[in-house]
Amino acid sequence: MSDGLDELEELLSSENRKTYSAKVIDHAMNPRNLGLIENADGYAGITGPCGDTMKIWLKVDNDQIAKAGFMTDGCGTSIASGSMVTELATGKDISEALLISQQNILDALNGLPEENKHCALLASNTLKAAIKVYMDVKKEPWKKAYRK
Ligand code: FES
Repeated sequence: MSDGLDELEELLSSENRKTYSAKVIDHAMNPRNLGLIENADGYAGITGPCGDTMKIWLKVDNDQIAKAGFMTDGCGTSIASGSMVTELATGKDISEALLISQQNILDALNGLPEENKHCALLASNTLKAAIKVYMDVKKEPWKKAYRK
């Protein structure tokens, strides 16, 4: 936990203000939709090649994402990416939300440094996986009993 705080403090340093956009710093410091959603209709957790994990929960109403929540043990830019992907997904039809790409997240954050771009990919992949779980369970509701 203190690692996370140290990282956030580092994000705020004046040097980093040149590296990260104001949007990235805002979403890293004030993440939207942080936290799990009980009785979610879709859930996925993915560990990226960097070893960080992103988890996304979805509440879906009539194939529209009513609520999205995320958690990550990753860096400040993965927090910003999780925050942004859940904001982008909320209110969208699942077919539209499935199209939210790494680039869409990067654009919405006004960019990330090259070495952090994979955080946006992890967020996009986790959202897609959570939507696919929702679609699977919708087709075969008995599967819900086997998923957390
Ligand atoms: Fe791994 Fe950001 S460094 S998700």
